[in-house]
Amino acid sequence: MTQELTSPSPAPQAPGTGRGPGWWRDAVIYQVYVRSFADSDGDGIGDLRGARERLPYLRDLGVDAVWLTPFYASPQADGGYDVADYRAVDPLFGTLQDADDLIRAAHDLGLRVIVDIVPNHTSDRHPWFQDPVLARQRYLFRPGKGESGELPPNDWESVFGGPAWTRTDHGDWYLHLFAPEQPDLNWDNPEVHAEFEAIMRFWLDLGVDGFRVDVAHGMIKAPGLPDIGHGAQAQLIGAQVLPFFDQDGVHAIHRAWRRLLDGYGDARGKQVIGVAEAWAPTGAATLLMLALPGSAYLYQGEELGLPEVTDLPDEARQDPAFFRGGRATGAAGPGTDTESAPDGVAAGGQDGFRDGCRVPLPWSGELPPYGFGPGGSWLPQPAGWGGLTVAAQTGDPASTLELYRAALELRRRLPGLGDGPMSWAPAPDGVLAFTRPGLLCTVNTLGHDVGLPAPGTPLLSSAPVTVDDATAQLPGDSCTWWAI
Ligand code: GLC
Repeated sequence: MTQELTSPSPAPQAPGTGRGPGWWRDAVIYQVYVRSFADSDGDGIGDLRGARERLPYLRDLGVDAVWLTPFYASPQADGGYDVADYRAVDPLFGTLQDADDLIRAAHDLGLRVIVDIVPNHTSDRHPWFQDPVLARQRYLFRPGKGESGELPPNDWESVFGGPAWTRTDHGDWYLHLFAPEQPDLNWDNPEVHAEFEAIMRFWLDLGVDGFRVDVAHGMIKAPGLPDIGHGAQAQLIGAQVLPFFDQDGVHAIHRAWRRLLDGYGDARGKQVIGVAEAWAPTGAATLLMLALPGSAYLYQGEELGLPEVTDLPDEARQDPAFFRGGRATGAAGPGTDTESAPDGVAAGGQDGFRDGCRVPLPWSGELPPYGFGPGGSWLPQPAGWGGLTVAAQTGDPASTLELYRAALELRRRLPGLGDGPMSWAPAPDGVLAFTRPGLLCTVNTLGHDVGLPAPGTPLLSSAPVTVDDATAQLPGDSCTWWAI
């Protein structure tokens, strides 16, 4: 698929941040799950134009960068993480021109843009996989075991459930750590390396500021693809090194990409970002995360305190893990996105699937689709979200949205808060306290109030703090920032 652009040159860079190549080290990066963020054309599916129209909201929220989940041409077997053409925009989400417009608009507002790159696997509709000869060079095909090759080549399980192998009409098998529609690439083939470097250059030339690497710990498999020897592999991810994740060889790939971006053009500070696991925090946990050193990742809707939707009807579900009987948990680990859960915890809330955290955002109004777009929404939104919309929370000092706005504004105003030093401070049992440049942070992990000598003047708190006669009462399960 070829898509033409009318604009002749790369989008201008984000102005004003002035923090050079390390900009991401203390940045607040907001993950836009494009399908569920904002819909411009009424088909019920979020799109790039919808995202562009909402960029001022993100600027006002106070984030530094936007991470766009995959919007590339895809049969959508796994929400776009099955890419058929890495250089084209899926018509569901718009056109290449829309991507270009979005990047330019973001830069005009001082926001950086990172895009998701999916190098562990492609779609089975990718032209490489469609060609039987190329496919056997560029993916991981193996003969089966058993008398007539009727058994999979090894005992690996798909992260989404079931065997990680599918047999072809030719009798051999191919590896897919995720859905059968997502065959794993053969990173022993230099053509695969060359292609991904070219894909990166394509998006860098369009103006993106960096990449979020999907399954950043994948790509390299242990030589010989050895059996693991026991079941429940999804539970083992993170607990031990498996022959398909965290192999030493992935570092060489990341180093090559690092070199590519370091040497890129005018060294405008573009970055490859392997995202470590995180999950959407609320209340106390949010302020704690934003007070810690390093970059912070927000998953869209957490700033509204949106709850997990736990009663989606089965017929509305789209997560491939749901249909394969696995849990998305196995996707967790270094390199996964913020909507996945930490290791060993069911992803996506109640039942371990991910549709419940992908319900389209409520922007305004009392009824679905709550301003998501002029049509409906691809997953049903709950009744009763009227009070959670952006419009409803804006200006309400007790709202989660205003807490986020205040915290992000303070994070910007206090130099060094993002990547400066941190030291522990004394605190009663059950309370954590640490200092950062310009503030002291207390976290009361207990379920009840705790009193302590007021460490300063309260700046921001996830629950009302009282200070009386130089004694502060920290409410249970709360986090407070103090000016010191
Ligand atoms: C990552 C993504 C997830 C996707 C998987 C396969 O875990 O977070 O959404 O299903 O990779 O690409």
